[in-house]
Amino acid sequence: MHRNLNILLTRKLPDSIEKKLSSQFNVSINKKDKLYTYSELKKKIQAIDILVPSIGDTIDSSIIRSANQLKMIANFGNGVDNIDLITAKEENIVVTNTPEVLTDDTADIVILMILMLTREIKRAESILYNGSWTGWGPSKTIGQTIKGKKLGIIGMGRIGQAVSKRAMTLGLKIHYHNRKRLPSKVEKTYDATYWYDLEKMLETMDIISIHCPYTAETFHLLSKSRLRRIKKNCIIINTSRGEIIDENELANLLINKKISGAGLDVFENEPQISPKLFEADNVVLLPHISSATIESRTQMGKRVIMNIDDFIRNKRPRDVV
Ligand code: 8YV
Repeated sequence: MHRNLNILLTRKLPDSIEKKLSSQFNVSINKKDKLYTYSELKKKIQAIDILVPSIGDTIDSSIIRSANQLKMIANFGNGVDNIDLITAKEENIVVTNTPEVLTDDTADIVILMILMLTREIKRAESILYNGSWTGWGPSKTIGQTIKGKKLGIIGMGRIGQAVSKRAMTLGLKIHYHNRKRLPSKVEKTYDATYWYDLEKMLETMDIISIHCPYTAETFHLLSKSRLRRIKKNCIIINTSRGEIIDENELANLLINKKISGAGLDVFENEPQISPKLFEADNVVLLPHISSATIESRTQMGKRVIMNIDDFIRNKRPRDVV
């Protein structure tokens, strides 16, 4: 029992996770799951020892410095772009995340969006829903086969590789751009072609999927000028972070049919979405659900607990970032 340790869960986590944590610690739960405002968070964090935030919480230096006894930030999520890691380090606060456990579910959503876009699923379904279906036709709702198409992965880490594994079985050819080239053994596993030059890769791909983390270096990695190099019949998938693509320019290119389609689970200013994206008919837009399965969310919670357990036992938590 560590009743003397105060833990703040900024969002409603799976019941089993909240129960487990509450049995050991003094836990503050967000029953209504309403995102705390900046000033609410600033107040709430004051007497907290361990903060468990999620993507919607901006844990900047001012929030971190409002805490009087914060020792750990155990993020419920893989990406830690919502946390000021430099201030956390300066204040000697340990930061952890929840990698691995959401890899497969995220990769599944990538494949789902690729198929939805290439097979025109939204358009096909709408024909049924709006009552305009008059029966089968040899030239109606024609999509594109994905077998043999080139898939360019930006960021060939865990999720990029899980996408590659699935894509290979569908007959896609794997290409990738990464800061570091992968060992040839790993490249062979996916029969993957490495592109040092991102721009050259962008010019040749049929499908592009983003899997790098959002950092100062990757902000608008797909900038206006890079987006304009992409082939007209290419589709872009983003399940990483919206900030990596210039969303406004992407919307322009989609509306003007300069890019064939986009599958977006993340946006530059969540929960706001560039209104122009709604005007495009060649998009699949999802509300950041790539890890939204009961299995992933429970495993993410378990990872949070595991990291906290290590920390209170004076062990280096497994997922220190
Ligand atoms: C999470 C994600 O659900 O883990 C991540 O980085 O993008 C999502 O799948 C979210 O970040 C929870 O904080």
